[in-house]
Amino acid sequence: MSTVPPRRLGEAPAAELLEPIERASAAELRALQRERLAWTLRHAYENVPHYRRAFEQAGVAPADFRDLPDLARFPLTTKADLRANYPFGMFAVPRERVARIHASSGTTGKPTVVGYTREDVETWAGVVARSIRAAGGRPGMMVHVAYGYGLFTGGLGAHYGAEALGCTVVPVSGGMTERQVQLIEDFRPEVIMVTPSYMLALLGEFRRQGKDPRGTSLKIGIFGAEPWTEAMRAEIEGAFDIHAVDIYGLSEVMGPGVANECVETKDGLHIWEDHFYPEVVAPETGRPVPDGEPGELVFTSLTKQAMPVVRYRTRDLTRLLPGTARPAFRRMEKVTGRSDDMVILRGVNVFPSQIEEQVLRVPGLSPHYQLVLTREGPLDCMTVAVEAEFGVAGAERGEAARVLVHHVQEMVGVAVRVEVRDPGTVERSAGKAQRVVDRRPKA
Ligand code: DLL
Repeated sequence: MSTVPPRRLGEAPAAELLEPIERASAAELRALQRERLAWTLRHAYENVPHYRRAFEQAGVAPADFRDLPDLARFPLTTKADLRANYPFGMFAVPRERVARIHASSGTTGKPTVVGYTREDVETWAGVVARSIRAAGGRPGMMVHVAYGYGLFTGGLGAHYGAEALGCTVVPVSGGMTERQVQLIEDFRPEVIMVTPSYMLALLGEFRRQGKDPRGTSLKIGIFGAEPWTEAMRAEIEGAFDIHAVDIYGLSEVMGPGVANECVETKDGLHIWEDHFYPEVVAPETGRPVPDGEPGELVFTSLTKQAMPVVRYRTRDLTRLLPGTARPAFRRMEKVTGRSDDMVILRGVNVFPSQIEEQVLRVPGLSPHYQLVLTREGPLDCMTVAVEAEFGVAGAERGEAARVLVHHVQEMVGVAVRVEVRDPGTVERSAGKAQRVVDRRPKA
């Protein structure tokens, strides 16, 4: 049984609104990729000592690349490679030519630093503008940006893209939830760009203030930076009466705008393959798998000057699918999780998104949840800490917990405990939500 209602689809942009490349044939796109890949491999080899060493160790040189399948002969790049070259060792241009620096938060150890030339910043704004348009945004609309501004790529990435499309940008950043609600009411934006989990915090604030979230000026939400399920899409679309569209990206490859869903199909994210070449590899072997097979997403940048990346392992798990709304561009299925987010619970692989789907099926439970891991004797235990909806108390909470335990056992195949908490007591974040809290003793 699924409680997710059918997707409500939006309007496709008129053909003349699309960039020429968005209307190109697959053959034209492949030709462009061949040319750009050859350039990237040369650029990385000639200007970044790490790539020169790695290529030599693998026994390949840029001249060995003649056609797209040859890319698989080149070595993969990992976050550890970027860390080992902290801070600027992966740059392929003199530091003076770098117009912008961003960095990933880096929960462990040093952050990962990325750089952009002036042209890279323009390319990035271009793909984000394209993404906003794919989501249904148009020049002249007002865009409320509630992704964090700063070293995180979300805020500034969304900002420059919305400007490039010709929108009015409101650079709110994350936090100060009460004021966000006020600004949405007063300024009347049509588009909001924010993490899905912070959108839920905004929803809670609308309700707390006794305001109708379906009555705002918002028409489109562009949500990303963390995994979110179809069930969450249905929840947000219903609560705000908007189109909820998925945006994907990572700082190492660019930032937001590597791929985006089209509002007229909402069927996974079209990868902007004229700038980012995708592969999916088997996580254990690193070997490419055919399109349609699940695995780890890997990207090679095609136009980046300051910090080209060759076969960068994202750790994100997905599949490549044929293009639909933009036929030449392949889609990636909504990311179900990162290989590092996977919890192995008594031999069963569990992703937070699988639990999220089940939480959202249970009446009386809110979409605010965390998974708490503990160890009892030799056994790992998972407690789903989830908030009750307002007004749900006592026996109703007990019943909701019982139903969730049952759904998770049935659909995910693991036994969990469920703790139904008061509204507002599961940690909120103004950016990416922390879904897993690991309280197991360190080995
Ligand atoms: O999160 C860039 C971004 C900002 C994307 C705003 C979308 C919107 P990082 O902080 O480097 O960059 O984190 C990248 O976040 O490898 C995924 O694991 C996850 N992620 C990003 N977008 C999605 C998405 C930004 N739509 C990491 N669905 C990525 C699932 C996502 N996971």
